[in-house]
Order: sequence, then C-alpha cells, then structure tokens
Amino acid sequence: MPVHPQPIRPTPASSDGSAQVSATTVSLRDRFILENRTAPTEDDASAAGQDVIEGLTQTPKTLPPKYFYDARGSELFEQITELPEYYLTRTERQILETFAGAIADEVGTCDLIELGSGSASKTRLIFSAYQQRRLPLRFVPVDVSDTILEASAHDLLEDYDNLTIHGLVATYEQALQDLPPTDLPRRLIAFIGSTLGNLFPEPEQRFLQAVSQALASGDYFLLGVDLHKDTATLEAAYNDAQGVSAAFNLNMLQHLNWRFGGNFDLTQFRHVAFYNDHDHQIEAYIESLTDQTVALQALDLTVSFTQGERLFSEISRKFDTAVLTAELSEFDLEVSDIFTDEQRQFALLLCQKQS
Ligand code: TRP
Repeated sequence: MPVHPQPIRPTPASSDGSAQVSATTVSLRDRFILENRTAPTEDDASAAGQDVIEGLTQTPKTLPPKYFYDARGSELFEQITELPEYYLTRTERQILETFAGAIADEVGTCDLIELGSGSASKTRLIFSAYQQRRLPLRFVPVDVSDTILEASAHDLLEDYDNLTIHGLVATYEQALQDLPPTDLPRRLIAFIGSTLGNLFPEPEQRFLQAVSQALASGDYFLLGVDLHKDTATLEAAYNDAQGVSAAFNLNMLQHLNWRFGGNFDLTQFRHVAFYNDHDHQIEAYIESLTDQTVALQALDLTVSFTQGERLFSEISRKFDTAVLTAELSEFDLEVSDIFTDEQRQFALLLCQKQS
C-alpha cells in the first residue's frame, strides 16, 4: 500500500490556528487520514482499571460496557448478530437495504460521521447508495479502536471510489465536541445499532444534546433504535438457545481476569437477562451462584459476592417512535422520516436539525 505524507483533502487548521491533526496522525494513503483524539493519560496504566474498582465497589455492582469488548467479546458479539433469535442487526440491515437510497436522496453529498462505526458493515449500504448516485461522501468513522478503523478503512476505500475517510480515534463525546471541519454542504451524524438503548435516560439526554450542538441548522442525524414488542421475542434475543449471549456476558469476567490478574471462576456465575416491561428495557446481569470472594491482583482489589447477588452489566432500552420523536424535537432534531421493517421491529429515524 502506498504511503503518502499528506491526504488529498487535508484537514484545514482550525480558525484559532491550532493544528486539527495531531502529531499522532497517520496518513496511510491519499484518501485516508486517521486522527487520534484520545488523551495520552487515558492509556496510562495507572488510570486503567479505576472504572473497574468503582464499579465493583458500588451497590449494586456494575461494570462499564467497554469490558464486553476484548478480542473474544467482539467475536462473540459478531456471533450474536448472526443468531436466529437476535433480530436487531439483521432487521436494521434490511431497513437500510430498502431505504439507503432515500437517505442519500434526501441528505445528498455530506460528511457522514458514524459514532461507534466498528467494521461499518451496515454503513456500506449507505456508501453503495451514494456510489450509485455518483455523490461524493466523506466518511468520518469514530471509534475508540484505532486497529478497527484502519482495517475497515482499507477495505472501504478499495470498494468505494467516491469515498474519502477521516477516521477519529475518540469517544463519542470527544468527537462531537469538535468535529473535523468540512467543505461539504452538510453533515450527517449516524448512530445506528440501537446503541442509544444502552444509555440510561440521563446520559441519553446529554448525548442528544451533544449531537444537536455538533450540528448546524439543516444538518442530519440518523438514529437506529429497537422498538417495543412482545416479551418473548425480546427475551429470546438476549437468551439464545446456543448460549452465545450468556458467553458474551460472562466473558466480561474473563476479560477482567486477563487484564487485571483476576481469579473469577466463570462456572460460579450465570447470565441473567429479562425484559422489564415497565421501563421497556432488557436488563442483563451476571449472577453469583455462591457466596464467594474474587481477587483482582493488578488492582489490589478483593470483592465479595453473596449467592444470588447480581452484577448489573447492561440495559438495552426499547423505544416507541412517537415518544422518541417528541424527545428528539426537544433537542431541535425534527424527525423527517421513520424507516421501519414490515413487522415494525426496528426503526431508523432520519432527523434534521432546526435553526
Ligand atoms: N448492545 C447489545 C444490545 O443491547 C448488547 C447485548 C446483546 C448484550 N446481547 C447481550 C448484553 C447479552 C448482555 C447480554 O443488544
């Protein structure tokens, strides 16, 4: 692969004169630039694990969702997305297959900023729609993993010649605070995969506020959410017959074991996930099967569990499009289209920022 010192579309320095592109920027080729926004201190060994200590010493115990995603966890999540019971990913992909053209027609040439892009496999459907229409697109994938950004960018540039990529190694907050300057007429922020549902109401509000602030009047926001439905369908999606959901949830403990020298015995815990009908959310927990004490050597931490005690691992909220539409409008995000599947299992909301 040729290495070029500068991208064809260099990112202009910001108006205050500070370089937008930090010293850690790596240009792999002329249509790709990767910008690292993570502060060096976040990689510090001393800072690592503080969130684990906080989570495991509070009541009820909890762990940040990032501990789902070590290499094994990412692989297990990929497997989840292919399970017969886990309709979410498949359904969202179907919706995009049907409506990506409509999205491209409405939004037109833009900066497409995807929060939590991962491998961007569903986003490809949008790229294809732009390619068919010969509309240029700059893709701004945002992910905390630089390896995933580099690997996916390589494949995408090969497949879509209308595309340039400006990857951001950053958290959503870091990215939204300061999006790369653009020459294109519009921005489209995409947050798909129903990740919004993994946020509690307060962080959700802060997130929507940040999205709204990052957009100028007339810019777009594409939001993918899972919808209310019968309990049996929902609970099956998080308790599949093959036990992949259980393995994924319990893998958090394995992750802590290797990362922090822990001695969690995975056979002494079980996966629990159920639908809380009142709050319209799946709640996932890791339940201790016995009274036990676990040590995490690298953190100098010992934690006791009682039999039946549940460590909270994730919520996955399910939405009603009318309620969500009203909520979005509080943040000056007017829903212009709701794209859904025939069974109305999942929805993509295309919103436009009002002045
Ligand atoms: N973000 C995924 C979701 O909300 C996470 C998930 C899928 C999950 N299956 C799970 C979390 C099982 C814990 C247990 O759909």
